[in-house]
This record gives sequence, C-alpha cells and structure tokens, in this order.
Amino acid sequence: MSHVAACLVCLSVVLTGGTGLLTPRFPRPKGPVLRSEYSYDTKYFTQPVDHFSFATSDTFDQRYLINRKYFEGDGGPIFFYTGNEGDITWFGDNTGFMWDIAPKFKAMVVFAEHRYYGDSMPYGKDSYKDPRHLGYLTAEQALADFARLITHLKSSIPGAADSPVVAFGGSYGGMLAAWFRMKYPSSVIGSLAASAPVWQFEGLTPCGSQYSIITQDFQKGSPGCDTRIRKSWDLLNQIGQTAAGREKLSSMFSLCSPLNTTKDVTVTMTQWLLNTWFNLAMVDYPYPASFLEPLPAWPIKEVCSLITKSLDVLEGIAAGATLYYNYTGQATCLNIQESAVSSLGDLGWSFQFCSEMTMPSCSDGVHDMFFPEPWNLTAYMAQCKSAWKVTPRPYWILQQFGGKNITAASNIIFSNGLLDPWSAGGVTESLSDSLVAITIADGAHHLDLRSSNPADPQSVIEAREQEVEIIREWLQQYYSGL
Ligand SMILES: *[C@@H]1O[C@H](CO)[C@@H](O)[C@H](O)[C@H]1NC(C)=O
Ligand SMILES: *[C@@H]1O[C@H](CO)[C@@H](O)[C@H](O)[C@H]1NC(C)=O
Ligand SMILES: *[C@@H]1O[C@H](CO)[C@@H](O)[C@H](O)[C@H]1NC(C)=O
Ligand SMILES: *[C@@H]1O[C@H](CO)[C@@H](O)[C@H](O)[C@H]1NC(C)=O
Repeated sequence: MSHVAACLVCLSVVLTGGTGLLTPRFPRPKGPVLRSEYSYDTKYFTQPVDHFSFATSDTFDQRYLINRKYFEGDGGPIFFYTGNEGDITWFGDNTGFMWDIAPKFKAMVVFAEHRYYGDSMPYGKDSYKDPRHLGYLTAEQALADFARLITHLKSSIPGAADSPVVAFGGSYGGMLAAWFRMKYPSSVIGSLAASAPVWQFEGLTPCGSQYSIITQDFQKGSPGCDTRIRKSWDLLNQIGQTAAGREKLSSMFSLCSPLNTTKDVTVTMTQWLLNTWFNLAMVDYPYPASFLEPLPAWPIKEVCSLITKSLDVLEGIAAGATLYYNYTGQATCLNIQESAVSSLGDLGWSFQFCSEMTMPSCSDGVHDMFFPEPWNLTAYMAQCKSAWKVTPRPYWILQQFGGKNITAASNIIFSNGLLDPWSAGGVTESLSDSLVAITIADGAHHLDLRSSNPADPQSVIEAREQEVEIIREWLQQYYSGL
C-alpha cells in the first residue's frame, strides 16, 4: 500500500489536493452544540494576538463560558477548563465531571476556548489564510491566553481575587492543562490532565504503541475480531484492482460515491476504515454515548460481534463499519471522504500537527492488525511544508515542556484509560509525590472527565474519587498557606 506518511488517525489534507499528509486526530466536534445540558454565560475577553513580541498590536476576542451559580465568593475555587482544538461548547458539554463536582467545592466553572477554534478567531475569516495570520496558533500562545484570562477573572469578579484555580483538560486539552501548571504555577494550584499524550513526541514513545492498543481492544471485543480486520486489508487491495470489484465494494458498504480508482480503495477507503477502528477505540464507553457518533454501550463488542458473525470477511467489515456510522438508522450511505479535513477544527489541528505537534505514529501489521505504515520524519516535514508553507519543529515541544524530564513540576494528575490508544503516549506511572498517574483499566478516552453514569465501571469510579481527593488536598494546602 502506498501511504506517504504515517498517522495516528489519519486525515488527508485537502489543501494538497486530496492525498499526502496524514494527521493524527483527537476526537472533536462535528459542529457546534446547539443545546447544552449545562447552564453558563458566554463571554469574551480581548487578547493580544501575539503575547511574545511587540511586532504586532492586533487583538482578538477569546470566548469563554462561565458559571458562577455554586461560587460563593470569599476566595472559593475556580475550575478552569483549558480548551482544546474545537468549539468550546462541545467540551463544556462533554466534561460532566467538572459540573458534577463543582457544587461540592462551591467552585466557579470556566471553559476557555482555544484561539483559532470555535468563535475565537484572531483574524476572523482570514485567520486560516496564510502563515502570517495562522502562525499565532500555538500551544504557548493559548496558554498565555489562559493565564491572562485568569488574571482578568480574579481581578474583575467580586470575591475571586484570592481564588485558587484548578485546571482541567482532556486529550490535547489535557496536555495544555499539564503544561499550564508547568509554565504558569502562579496561575493554577494544580491540574487534572486526562488522557493527555504528553509523551507522544519524537523519541519518547515507540511510534506503534497506539495501534497495538487498538488491536488488543478488538481482540477483547470478540475472539477472532482482530484477525478478521487484519485479513481485510489484503482482500480490499485485491478486490480494488478491478472495476467490477470496486463496484461490488461500493454497494457492499453502501458508499455515497462510487470507488472509481484502485487508489480510492487502497488509500482513501483503507484510511477511512483505519480511522473508524481508531475512533471506536477512543470512544469504547460502557454506556450509550454520542461523542463522535451515536453509539451503543461498549461499541467495540457490538461491532466485533458483527464482524465475526459474517461468513464473508469483507461483509463483516462492512456490517461493523455500518454500525459505527448508522447506529441511529439515519445514514442513507457511508461517506469514505468524510474523514478528510472538513471543518476548521480539523484544519486547525492539521496546522498544529505540522508546526509544533510532531506526534509520530506507525503501524507494522505484525504487532498490530493494520498494515505497514512507517513513520518518516523527512516525508512528514516535506508534506507539512507543502500543505501549510511552514517548516515543522519536531523537537520544540520537548525543549519547551521538558519531554520526560518533568519532575521539577508539581501538582499534576495524569489520568489515562487503558483502552484508549492515546494512553500509549501518556504518563501512566507516578513521577513523584505530586505528579500522580491514575490508570483506569476499563476506560477509553478521558472517560473520567465525563459525567458519572450508572454503568460506570468500578475503575473509573475509583479514579474520580482519587482525583477529587487530590484536588481537595491542593485546596487545603493553598488555604492553609494564605
Ligand atoms: C468517483 O467519481 C465521481 C464523479 O467524478 C465523484 O463524484 C466521486 O467523488 C468519486 N468517488 C470517490 C470515492 O472519489
Ligand atoms: C441505516 O439504517 C437504516 C435502518 O436500519 C437502513 O434503512 C439504512 O439502509 C441504513 N443505511 C446504511 C448506509 O446502511
Ligand atoms: C522517507 O521519505 C523520503 C522523502 O519522501 C524518502 O526519500 C525516503 O526514502 C523515505 N525513507 C524511508 C525509510 O522510507
Ligand atoms: C533533567 O533536568 C535536570 C535539571 O535541569 C538535569 O539535572 C538532568 O540532567 C535532566 N535529565 C535528563 C535526562 O535530561
């Protein structure tokens, strides 16, 4: 198979004309959330576009969501979500844990949007125009936005001047929460970094680890499930060689548009399937949820039961993929081009992946059920240059945030669900008394940040109890030092 670059969950960058760069992908919203379960006010705060030089005095309005219902003033805590790559309302809705525990702590709840996402566009419609406009999309600038916003909140809200702030974040937002505590220890007393792959960078984690985890998840899904998926790639390759075969596949998978060329099968369709299995591993939650797609409880088990039940391997694969995309029965066809970059959220992450966030990944078809796709730094650099006209700095994040050498930091909880492919690049063993790792045996991507649910496994119930306990200790330490 002719894959140009390795990827985590792959997206073809449309800017290069369809093929080319493949980008890792965290779960992200498909569109704005229209109706929230939680109540908050939506506000804006004016930020400099560039915190780190005096080359421009441009400003923009950063959106944030705020709820002061439980906050009783008098220096009560502020729970602050460090927004990641997407519309902040989506993170507000999918971080029930903060809402669940805020009343207990009498905490103010704030969700801060990440610049260049949602409604926080530094240059309006021109934000993504070229590197001159887009170059301010970095983690460092986002962290500085958070720090200034906190200063603003504490100075403008009555009773908040001495409030301790606890940062929360999941996925890339978890990376930001951890880095925020490292870089701005005077802004936050501690951080819960959930499913934060802070070590998914050059030289820190073997690039194939994620795909091994996904393979284990499908192995557990039902016996033989991973074997079937492993077999499917060669079968797809063979059948994709002929027009008759492609027609058969198009109809077997009820595809929205027909497979015209061999490459449609061997690149577009296989990447789409790889995406599908990757996504399932991230959202293998113990109850029905609608994080990326509406899905039943333990969706991998359901999908695997379809995959292994069928006599024909590819028909089984089609049935499994259909469950993922058509659980509600609303899908008229399956769109293998859907995983291409389709929204600004996807585009923004693609740019971040091509500038600071060099997060290598690879598969070999031996230690995982996928196909050989090596990580090639040279090819990645070249493709990023051509897609975004920027040269990635693959080692900058290590320099900036310490790589594995972070024991000088304190008060960070690193939580990871072991079903989650992203746990491969996470901190899963405690590094010191106050850099605490919590693993959740039956957890997918930041399950602990979701609201509590009757179907929660014991492992996540215990993880949340431990998290609450540690946050309580941070607060006690803070108040006893005042
Ligand atoms: C096949 O060609 C048609 C007509 O040009 C196009 O609309 C469709 O998107 C193509 N299918 C794929 C999978 O690229
Ligand atoms: C989705 O499910 C509905 C209801 O079962 C079915 O009518 C429809 O054909 C399915 N769509 C696809 C693409 O399989
Ligand atoms: C990596 O990519 C470069 C540029 O595309 C290519 O020349 C080189 O052969 C590749 N290396 C490997 C080991 O595949
Ligand atoms: C980590 O940082 C400390 C303090 O700067 C330094 O002494 C140590 O050598 C570093 N360790 C590694 C593995 O880089």
